[in-house]
Amino acid sequence: MSALSETQTTSDLPSAEQEDSRVDVRELVKSYRLGEDSIEVLKGLSLAVAAGEIVSIMGPSGSGKTTLLNCISGIDTPDEGEVRIAGNVVDYDSERARTNLRRHDIGMVFQFFNLVPTLMVRENVALPFLIARKANDDADGRVQTLLERVGIAGRADHRPYQLSGGEMQLASIARALAHQPAAILADEPTGNVNPAVGRSIMNTLRDVAKSEKTAVLLVTHSPEHAAWSDRVCFLKEGVIAAERTHDGDAENVRPIHETLLKLGI
Ligand SMILES: Nc1ncnc2c1ncn2[C@@H]1O[C@H](COP(=O)(O)OP(=O)(O)OP(=O)(O)O)[C@@H](O)[C@H]1O
Ligand SMILES: [Mg+2]
Repeated sequence: MSALSETQTTSDLPSAEQEDSRVDVRELVKSYRLGEDSIEVLKGLSLAVAAGEIVSIMGPSGSGKTTLLNCISGIDTPDEGEVRIAGNVVDYDSERARTNLRRHDIGMVFQFFNLVPTLMVRENVALPFLIARKANDDADGRVQTLLERVGIAGRADHRPYQLSGGEMQLASIARALAHQPAAILADEPTGNVNPAVGRSIMNTLRDVAKSEKTAVLLVTHSPEHAAWSDRVCFLKEGVIAAERTHDGDAENVRPIHETLLKLGI
């Protein structure tokens, strides 16, 4: 006899993947008002990222990729749906809960780095410790380890303007990792660096996902960069219109191009 009752479907049950999900987005709806009109950007979007998994989101400009990341991180509030980070439902009604989410559970990497220009790299990376009040004797050691991990330990005492774009982005990845978040959200982290540096950023993000068991969710317009992922999700018309599991083989770009072409992205 089936273990499922007639009214229950397999999708009602937590799948192994959902149970292990660090990021679990369910049926997200988000509209923006533009004067009299309202545009529905996300139309019931669901997506999950497991611990240690790196997932890329691709989609046309204006399709809602940044909106999705902003809803996950609590910067923006969805109209409907639910987001769970490491199993905890995000409480959008509480400003404090949303702030805590970014202080403790999520690390963010932005297209334009967002480093504090007056602080040295090591101070920038240490900021999340200070903000999360996690300052302890080992903060310096952790910062040093993180800078070594992303390959810019030699730049610890430089200020952001003394770094290349790629180095700034690597510093912002180190900063995003400082408070050991369950998930890293990265919005076009390779958008402002040359292709070779983009590859090294993707390599670092992949390495972080695998070694720190962090869930990494990133947005990219580049199939070459998406090819470093375990999975590529294609956002179109407010939902994940297609997804491809990938094997992280950065040479295997063709299937991604094919899906983009098929979806007209
Ligand atoms: N605060 C806002 N108020 C009104 N409309 C907004 C707001 N933020 C985003 N939008 C609209 O929502 C849609 C999705 O925007 P979003 O920034 O999420 O797209 P995107 O997929 O990240 O695009 P891109 O690839 O260009 O970064 C766009 O039409 C945008 O104009
Ligand atoms: Mg965007």
